[in-house]
Amino acid sequence: MMWTCITDFFTYETTKSVVVKSWTIGIINRVVQLLIITYFIGWVFVHEKAYQIRDTAIESSVMTKVKGFGLYNNRVMDVAEYVTPSQGASVFCIITKFITTENQVQGYCPEVRPLTLPLALCLPTGRCVHFNDTLNTCEIRGWCPAEIDYIKTHPMMEVENFTIFIKNSIRFPLFNFTKGNFLPTITPQYIKACNFDHENNTYCPIFRVGDVIRYAHQNFTTLAQKGGVIGIKIGWMCDLDKSEDECNPSYSFTRLDAMSEKNSVSPGYNFRYAKYYKMDNGTDYRTLLKAYAIRFDVLVNGNAGKFNMIPTLINMVAAFTSVGVGTVLCDIILLNFLKGAEQYKAKKFEEVSDTQIENSLSSNGLYRSREFIGVEKQSNDSGAFSIGQYG
Ligand SMILES: *[C@@H]1O[C@H](CO)[C@@H](O)[C@H](O)[C@H]1NC(C)=O
Repeated sequence: MMWTCITDFFTYETTKSVVVKSWTIGIINRVVQLLIITYFIGWVFVHEKAYQIRDTAIESSVMTKVKGFGLYNNRVMDVAEYVTPSQGASVFCIITKFITTENQVQGYCPEVRPLTLPLALCLPTGRCVHFNDTLNTCEIRGWCPAEIDYIKTHPMMEVENFTIFIKNSIRFPLFNFTKGNFLPTITPQYIKACNFDHENNTYCPIFRVGDVIRYAHQNFTTLAQKGGVIGIKIGWMCDLDKSEDECNPSYSFTRLDAMSEKNSVSPGYNFRYAKYYKMDNGTDYRTLLKAYAIRFDVLVNGNAGKFNMIPTLINMVAAFTSVGVGTVLCDIILLNFLKGAEQYKAKKFEEVSDTQIENSLSSNGLYRSREFIGVEKQSNDSGAFSIGQYG
């Protein structure tokens, strides 16, 4: 009993094949196999580079510097005034328009409200005071005088000619590969004069604000008037099986706050900040600034691939296995749609009933053990080692 179990276990089963000599199914079979092989070679291996291991965890550092002088309210503005924050990070704002409220101190003053709003109950202090000759508003307590932020001002148009200088270093930790956007071909003379464009200066790291906005399909005047967020994307798609010189950045530009572009409630981008001073007697006063700005976000993305045995093997196995998928399709056609499908079915699925088994058992005795013995005899003759040994 035990022995039977062991001998039953140590057996090998193999499928029996039915060879179909039919042109139709033969051609379909080869065409399907060819399609699958073409897909794997053309798309999976050549296009998607499935033989490579990929590093998508790009590490990057971005430094930026803006240059240019602008004229605003008869004052010359330099970088320290119109760029914020000043550290030169990957996100920075170029202020195009200010609404300045000077000499604010803590105290009581009339509130500013758009003329369209009705005068409700004056809650904070309960008093109604003269705002100007024609209008009364509620009195508030806070930084006074209150800001009037609906006055019309013109943006600083010179911003269009400002330049942004971007220094970007990247690293692919998996391959310990580092590179920067200053390519070895860039000389100091070139960098002094160049401005990025998509045709001739694709690797120049200096960008004119006007060009960036144009490449992002935006209008400079409206953007400067209302503010907005522009993305400068640096893509690093590197095939490290090739030469290092072919791993280069590609720049693209887009407007990131597309929602506020269409939205009428809060269009554009602005923020407030204040500069604080002290009077001789020790009380604080401040200048409040409401700034309309174009914010630039430098976004770096990328991945690198390099040949590796493991993905190559896995994908090759997947490719070979997938060739077998053709069989399923051919079987469906063969057994259902081809002429003589019934005969093929009969050949493919041999039906064995209980009575057939019993008949063969009674005529052959224990045919199974006999067969084994038969083979054993042969193997003894030839001296070869075969499955018959169990007999
Ligand atoms: C920008 O520079 C160009 C050429 O230097 C000049 O013609 C143009 O007037 C400048 N634009 C502004 C808004 O200053």
